[in-house]
Amino acid sequence: MPILRSMLLLFVLHSTLLVSAKRSKGTDLWKTLNGNAPLVVARGGFSGLFPDSSYAAYYLALTTSLSDVILWCDVQLTKDGAGICFPTLNLANSSDISNVYKDSKVYLVGGELVRGWFSVDYTLKNLSNVYLTQGIYSRSPLFDGTVSNILTVEEVAQFKPPGLWLNIQYDAFFRQHNLSMRSFVLSVSKRVIINYVSSPELGFLGSIASRIGTKTKLVFRFLEKDDTEPSTNQTYGSLLSNLTFVKKFASGILVPKSYIWPVNAGLYLQSPTSVVSDAHNEELEVFASDFANDAVLSYNYSYDPIAEYLSFVDNGNFSVDGVLSDFPITPSEAIDCFSYISKNATGQASPMVITHNGASSVYPGCTDVSYQQAVEDGADVIDCSVQMTSDGIPICLGSINLIEGTTVAQSSYSIRSVDIPELQKSPGIFTFNLTWKEIQGLTPAILNPYMDYNLYRYPAHKNSGKLLSVDDFLSFAKTKPLSGVLIRVENAAYLAEYQGLSVIDAVIDSLHKFGYNNRTVQKVMILSTNSSVLKEFKKKTSYELVYDVDENISDALNSSIIEIKGFAHSVLITKQTIFPASDGFLTGATDVVDKLHAYNISVYASLFRNEYVSQPWDFFSDPIVEINTYVSLAHIDGVITEFPGTAISYRKNKCLNMGNNTPNYMLPVLPGGLMKVITTNLPPAEAPNPVLIEADVIEPPLPPVVEKPTNSETRGPASAPNSRIAASSTQSGQPRTASGFFRSSFVVLAFILF
Ligand SMILES: *[C@@H]1O[C@H](CO)[C@@H](O)[C@H](O)[C@H]1NC(C)=O
Ligand SMILES: *[C@@H]1O[C@H](CO)[C@@H](O)[C@H](O)[C@H]1NC(C)=O
Ligand SMILES: *[C@@H]1O[C@H](CO)[C@@H](O)[C@H](O)[C@H]1NC(C)=O
Ligand SMILES: *[C@@H]1O[C@H](CO)[C@@H](O)[C@H](O)[C@H]1NC(C)=O
Ligand SMILES: *[C@@H]1O[C@H](CO)[C@@H](O)[C@H](O)[C@H]1NC(C)=O
Ligand SMILES: *[C@@H]1O[C@H](CO)[C@@H](O)[C@H](O)[C@H]1NC(C)=O
Ligand SMILES: *[C@@H]1O[C@H](CO)[C@@H](O)[C@H](O)[C@H]1NC(C)=O
Ligand SMILES: *[C@@H]1O[C@H](CO)[C@@H](O)[C@H](O)[C@H]1NC(C)=O
Ligand SMILES: *[C@@H]1O[C@H](CO)[C@@H](O)[C@H](O)[C@H]1NC(C)=O
Ligand SMILES: *[C@@H]1O[C@H](CO)[C@@H](O)[C@H](O)[C@H]1NC(C)=O
Ligand SMILES: *[C@@H]1O[C@H](CO)[C@@H](O)[C@H](O)[C@H]1NC(C)=O
Ligand SMILES: *[C@@H]1O[C@H](CO)[C@@H](O)[C@H](O)[C@H]1NC(C)=O
Repeated sequence: MPILRSMLLLFVLHSTLLVSAKRSKGTDLWKTLNGNAPLVVARGGFSGLFPDSSYAAYYLALTTSLSDVILWCDVQLTKDGAGICFPTLNLANSSDISNVYKDSKVYLVGGELVRGWFSVDYTLKNLSNVYLTQGIYSRSPLFDGTVSNILTVEEVAQFKPPGLWLNIQYDAFFRQHNLSMRSFVLSVSKRVIINYVSSPELGFLGSIASRIGTKTKLVFRFLEKDDTEPSTNQTYGSLLSNLTFVKKFASGILVPKSYIWPVNAGLYLQSPTSVVSDAHNEELEVFASDFANDAVLSYNYSYDPIAEYLSFVDNGNFSVDGVLSDFPITPSEAIDCFSYISKNATGQASPMVITHNGASSVYPGCTDVSYQQAVEDGADVIDCSVQMTSDGIPICLGSINLIEGTTVAQSSYSIRSVDIPELQKSPGIFTFNLTWKEIQGLTPAILNPYMDYNLYRYPAHKNSGKLLSVDDFLSFAKTKPLSGVLIRVENAAYLAEYQGLSVIDAVIDSLHKFGYNNRTVQKVMILSTNSSVLKEFKKKTSYELVYDVDENISDALNSSIIEIKGFAHSVLITKQTIFPASDGFLTGATDVVDKLHAYNISVYASLFRNEYVSQPWDFFSDPIVEINTYVSLAHIDGVITEFPGTAISYRKNKCLNMGNNTPNYMLPVLPGGLMKVITTNLPPAEAPNPVLIEADVIEPPLPPVVEKPTNSETRGPASAPNSRIAASSTQSGQPRTASGFFRSSFVVLAFILF
């Protein structure tokens, strides 16, 4: 295996160079057993991205985690007694062995017959042409072709990890096959440093306790509460109330995270149990398992994996001593950068945090409760997308179509559905067809953009709150500690020409009514995809005008930027414009932000969401890594987000502005870096995004407002001559940021080795 050896050398070299992160040690804040910061244990390395227990996974864990990260290895024994790191007993679950060896076997495992391929039937040499694969099918299989030999325990030790943890899950199985885990563990611990050994079998821990060196800590792993521990015949649940007994065998316990923070059937968090303090009273360290950024999270965490870690390490009452994670970068950030931040901390000013329909990730968008939540989260600017009612009242709602954002389709107004091709392709029930009173009677509805992935937003709030008029919105905002409000104005031409409604005048009237008529109160930002709307505001007001370039572009001609400069102070662009992606992987970076900055134009980016499927793989399913990359690499000035709490927590984290001492887990990812690691053939690259030219920016002037139609007919071309909106496939007037998601995952900071 000469290739393998030289690659290992390379890894070791790189890891000593790269793992330089400092951490805030020695504080007396931590409520861990020994008062030190909790540990991060990387399960099979960075198994959330690369095949579990592969070089790539271990290497990435070392280079993206706390400097004392511990590498976890699930040990299986080969026929000739070698210990390999492999996550599952059945080798077919995370390798290509079924393609290499045709015959499966059936064995008794924990009382059940299991058909599969087992290490006990193969020598280490037999496994040299078997490659590790991604065993969790929701993760990318594209790294399966990456060199990923099965590693022995000794080979993983050659990484010289800060800590090595061996998990012995199936001692009894190997004993049945006349292979001794006990002998293996005792012998390997004489050759390499083993910091932890865990097992769900107390008998196994007892059998090595007196012989293993004092440098190795023994940890008893709890399985499901109803499962029976084989050596005592007690359930794990009953052993939990007998920790004095457990202490005889182990210095720590490893429990599923639900042992500490139980979650009910509705996926809501219950009060924490006393497991951590009970164990600490017995002088047992506590490690919690099952952390993964793509795991099913309790709704209470709003898809923010850092919030989950903090509930285990920084809740005021207790802290676990370590967490077992498939995505070790995230607990590293949580522990070193996000823990013990004062509620009063202000953090840095950038990026500006602007909401999208309020905190629409936890409440129906544009409701009183979604705005209230956004204010509590600390958002700088709350937003209102203005729509008009039939009686001329400007209101806030994410879409002109009431079907998005309310339950109107289930109401008696469902018969008011009409087809207006100028506004959208499918029929809708439009705000300008109902009076404000009628709309106030509707039930708001939370949007679930990733329903297809079974990712729902806070079901307990799905129909809560009430909708607001622009007056209600401004009267709410005025008294809050906000730096401003953002008002989105779309469809102005249609409303003027066919509905006799002047949305611009309605907005200006409301703003004046609440004192937003000059720059002495909170700032007002007017956002539109249509330059003629901004020009109209420019004539009549002195608000900050934000031009929404809602298409994904690859570049902007200077002439187009000069044109924009004529009617806007700032620009909103898509995330894809900054870091284009293809098939869920970043392909590189554009210099659109720098170009706009050169003209003194502020740049905001849209749309930031926490759900991991909304991010390319490069960001490790970690919303903070995504935000950090946009801020620290692309230098955007603000984010538009449905999760303002997450963006605000980013700004307060302690690892910003550290210059050369910035820990690796707070460095931006290298756009396009991860794609280089893929060896399988990707589908051909998509056509590059278009370049923004002057003509894209110039619009005809707004039409005059017609007399309000007096008969009851909805005016407007009912058939589809939508030539007015020439580029209707790219510009519908509504922001289209909510559509389309690519699968995502992770990235490599300086991952240059393959
Ligand atoms: C292993 O794979 C089999 C089928 O291929 C599946 O039924 C089983 O759940 C998998 N086990 C694990 C632990 O992933
Ligand atoms: C493993 O290798 C040995 C020795 O080369 C060989 O005899 C045996 O058939 C191999 N096992 C399998 C399952 O191929
Ligand atoms: C284990 O060893 C015993 C005694 O030598 C033998 O009887 C048994 O068949 C062996 N079992 C296996 C699975 O090799
Ligand atoms: C555990 O219980 C089973 C059946 O209840 C019994 O056969 C077995 O001997 C018990 N083992 C121990 C170690 O007590
Ligand atoms: C604790 O477990 C041991 C071993 O099963 C048992 O002998 C002992 O009685 C248990 N103690 C309590 C308080 O349940
Ligand atoms: C989680 O959310 C539910 C529903 O909103 C709430 O009842 C519960 O108290 C929350 N749990 C915690 C621990 O805050
Ligand atoms: C911490 O303990 C106090 C007092 O027992 C309790 O009121 C509070 O809810 C606890 N908080 C957490 C996060 O467990
Ligand atoms: C945080 O704010 C509260 C009230 O707003 C104040 O009582 C407290 O002293 C502040 N804490 C710190 C650390 O500034
Ligand atoms: C700004 O508005 C406030 C409140 O409407 C008003 O009192 C003040 O005179 C205005 N200032 C200027 C410079 O127009
Ligand atoms: C922008 O507004 C003008 C009227 O000022 C209208 O003619 C044009 O169709 C609008 N463009 C888009 C893309 O909606
Ligand atoms: C709503 O639309 C329906 C169907 O086009 C129309 O008959 C009705 O007059 C409209 N009502 C208002 C208030 O615009
Ligand atoms: C921009 O790119 C994203 C991500 O690929 C896609 O979902 C979205 O539809 C694109 N926007 C436009 C206007 O094409």
